[in-house]
Amino acid sequence: MNSENLLVTGGCGFIGSNFIRHLLADGRFQGRIINTDCLTYAGNPDNLKGVKEAHPERYFFEKADICDMDALRGIFNRHRVDAVCHFAAESHVDRSIKKPDSFVQTNIIGTFNLLEAARGAGSRFRIFHHISTDEVYGSLGREGYFTEETPYRPNSPYSASKASSDHLVRAYHETYGLPTTISNCSNNYGPYQFPEKLIPLIVLNARDGKPLPVYGDGRNVRDWLYVTDHCEAIRTIMEKGARGETYNIGGHAEMENITIVEMICDLVDEIEPAGAPRRRLITFVKDRPGHDRRYAIDFSKLSGELGWKPAESFASGLRKTVLWYLEHKEWNERVRSGAYQSWIREQYGEG
Ligand code: NAD
Ligand code: TYD
Repeated sequence: MNSENLLVTGGCGFIGSNFIRHLLADGRFQGRIINTDCLTYAGNPDNLKGVKEAHPERYFFEKADICDMDALRGIFNRHRVDAVCHFAAESHVDRSIKKPDSFVQTNIIGTFNLLEAARGAGSRFRIFHHISTDEVYGSLGREGYFTEETPYRPNSPYSASKASSDHLVRAYHETYGLPTTISNCSNNYGPYQFPEKLIPLIVLNARDGKPLPVYGDGRNVRDWLYVTDHCEAIRTIMEKGARGETYNIGGHAEMENITIVEMICDLVDEIEPAGAPRRRLITFVKDRPGHDRRYAIDFSKLSGELGWKPAESFASGLRKTVLWYLEHKEWNERVRSGAYQSWIREQYGEG
């Protein structure tokens, strides 16, 4: 990736912060990183603790909202941005069901603003990589996989807003010749994920002896990918992907939710034994409206054309992840305080 000034949006979130660490640890990228994040409840500067100190000449933080066009143009000019890796988004399906407004603003309007700023950068601009999700394809039955040719059929306000942003990115390539790539990835897990998503939520509730909410019958299937495998896939696509193309990213790790919850219970029992097995805390709750039944990814285009494949198995990745959450008590406490707690109270009441 021969960018000199790479703008990473949403770099204080889960995947963005892992990506920044991955890139800076990697001699293959020699440029500067400008992280732009407006620090929503999900943006946590703690995720990048020590990074500025370790890379004072290569890492810069600009607090800004991607919905603010003037702020974006200022950042592009000040830093002579020549590449974008766009993570910033509202990312949680349950929140999009309760309050879709900010999903439309950030995911659609914010992406549009970034595309305009990139277009304004002119001939110095090298690559706009857009991070998207497999959820744009909708839901699968028992058989089959999502390919890059699968028609879009988003079912939640989150996935509809991501689908919309994908279309804008594609159109900017076709219409204006902007050098773009898009990746549609399956569910990620690993360190620094905000504990409202299934895996960290279940780990922390299991540790604390709280109920473990499983939606519906627990038989919904997701394809899981360890976050650093996703980061390496993104790096590979930015470096070698054909401009204007889309690549699916997945882990060949299809799992039913209930199986994951049981695996986490057993790992927490093993690492921090309690009087009784954590599986007793499993609580089936009302299903999510419009809950997609199954996601599964065919990533043969990415592996065949660009040579990427996941390095981590689900069992090894899950063990690492559970250990990380149990060992990072301070991170967990800070991230679960303040805005997150107020939101939880607002949605679910006290206690
Ligand atoms: P996250 O919610 O952990 O982080 C999102 C980050 O974006 C936060 O730091 C937040 O402060 C920032 N942000 C939100 N609105 C912003 C705005 N208006 N301006 C500037 N910054 C803003 O999300 P994540 O899980 O790291 O996901 C990152 C990207 O990857 C998203 O685009 C998401 O759709 C995509 N994705 C996620 C997964 C997954 O399993 N988590 C899977 C596939 C794709
Ligand atoms: P989630 O982590 O929210 O990711 P996504 O909705 O993007 O797939 O949910 C993963 C799966 O776990 C999904 O099928 C919904 C389910 N789920 C539960 O059963 N209980 C929970 O408390 C949460 C947050 C999710």
